[in-house]
Amino acid sequence: CVSHGMVAELSNSGRLLHASSSLRKSGHKSSNITKGRLSGFQARQDHLRRQARCSILVQVPSKTKCSSILQYCEKRAGKIVKAYHFSNSKDYTLIEFADESSVKNITKHARFFMPNKRGNQYYGTQYGSIPVQTRLMFYSGVELEKSVAGWTTSKYSVPFESETPPHNLIQTLQGAKNISQQMSMLYKQERLTELGMRLRFLHCTILEDLLTSIFPYVKINPFGSCVNGFGQRLCDLDMHMDIQPEEVTASEALNFLTKKLPENERIFTQHILNFLADIIQMFVPHSANVLRITHASVPIIKFYSRALDIDCDLSMGNRSGLYMSELLWFLGEIDPRVQPLVFTIRSWAKEQCLTQKQAPGRKPTNFTWTMLVIYFLQAKQVLPSIEILASLAGPGERKTIDGYDRSFSTDIHKYKQLNLKTMNVASVEELLIQFMEFYAKYDFSSQALSLRTGTSYTKESMSPMYIENPFEPDRNVSKNVSMEEIVHIQKACAKSVPDLKNSYKLKKLDQRWGLINLLSSQSHPPLDIRFKVQDLLTEDFDSEDGNVTSESEKPSHSKLESD
Ligand code: CTP
Ligand code: MG
Repeated sequence: CVSHGMVAELSNSGRLLHASSSLRKSGHKSSNITKGRLSGFQARQDHLRRQARCSILVQVPSKTKCSSILQYCEKRAGKIVKAYHFSNSKDYTLIEFADESSVKNITKHARFFMPNKRGNQYYGTQYGSIPVQTRLMFYSGVELEKSVAGWTTSKYSVPFESETPPHNLIQTLQGAKNISQQMSMLYKQERLTELGMRLRFLHCTILEDLLTSIFPYVKINPFGSCVNGFGQRLCDLDMHMDIQPEEVTASEALNFLTKKLPENERIFTQHILNFLADIIQMFVPHSANVLRITHASVPIIKFYSRALDIDCDLSMGNRSGLYMSELLWFLGEIDPRVQPLVFTIRSWAKEQCLTQKQAPGRKPTNFTWTMLVIYFLQAKQVLPSIEILASLAGPGERKTIDGYDRSFSTDIHKYKQLNLKTMNVASVEELLIQFMEFYAKYDFSSQALSLRTGTSYTKESMSPMYIENPFEPDRNVSKNVSMEEIVHIQKACAKSVPDLKNSYKLKKLDQRWGLINLLSSQSHPPLDIRFKVQDLLTEDFDSEDGNVTSESEKPSHSKLESD
């Protein structure tokens, strides 16, 4: 089973205990596996999807109105199990009912008002208000007051959470005992919240609602970082649309009377995406800047949701990204060191201007950085190769799609039975330093990285950086990364090693230490401090020119203008 000399021990007496004990020292209490919370990726997706189908989003004038909205919804429609308040430029309440039928009850009364505004007044039009099915609503104060008049008011008791902005990261990190604990804190603070996840699934199901009368089996699945376990608070929403049922149904004598048959699948995809873009533009509230990039090799529509404050991408066809999401999620779950390390590296790369925000571009994207971390962890025998996971795939998990083998198992029990033993019980902090050392010297000019085998090989491609897509080996996930950026990356890695190693001396002096230092773009302390510190250091500080400068990046989450 242990195909490339990987020695890892899972289960009760080995690897995960070592791994988690090293994290426990650093404040990372225990992994999802040791807590027994691990459930399948699909089961989790289905659960989140069911929650989303029972949910509505209401724009409210202020937080103080939330209680009366909840009271109204419960009386009018049915039991509420969870509610959240959050603010973007406006205030919103996300309400989850116990039952999908409650959503039908509440949306039965929703109206679309034809805009016909003169001054501050709306005038009736020949349409007046049109009943619509929608789960994105706004609070109509007058109507609500009329409805609740006469109801006996009781204190509202449903759990009601209010999303607060994250704490000041620097202050939080300052209180940590060591760098491993800082990494764990960073991960916990920066990861996508439960509300963020719910809003993303809600958005997918809302788009499905718009299409079900034509395509009754339509499924819009989120993929990418919002479901693969590596999503940050403001991560975008990548969506993939399927319009066929999983099981192909037998053909019938009567079929859809199509107006005109599209010439090929690509044109068909373009038609559907254009149609959906029209609908989003017109009928999905808060959607702005709908872009149709339907002539790209992978046709896609992009838009921005103001209510959710999320950039959205929607595509059809190639399902490779969905498999990739499941694979990354599993890799993140099997060792508790993976996610804190990925979050730290991605945050560091962003601070050092080494991340490409909008692909394509000459720097690695967040996704490319994740692949670099996974490969490093494979090389250090912390994570298995994809080949090992493929060898575990059962009949239901064997997939060859578009000529590529996409089989792999995400069954943790089978994986545990391999009883792999790892000698690598390094703490996350040690792994962070090893990562920097590894890539500072990595020979990108001659080597290609294969996550499939967990090894490197001599590359044939001219691309400066070559990371094989594990599901499409002839595709390079880092094909746009330039030679110049690789030089920047390697310099930044080399410079971070002494910064990290010297960190505890700064901590003793109660100065910026560990990740605080690493995650600031000027990663050296101010000069006066450096004089004091200098005496304590066994190694000299690097010269100033180690600073990596590159073109300034756009803000991490660009808010698009409204339509
Ligand atoms: N993807 C891929 N191959 C690529 C680029 C992307 O398979 N060359 C898939 C991956 O599953 C990736 C998803 O498309 O996770 C979405 O891509 P992107 O949004 O760029 O990356 P994310 O992982 O979602 O990271 P971010 O938080 O920056 O959005
Ligand atoms: Mg994404």
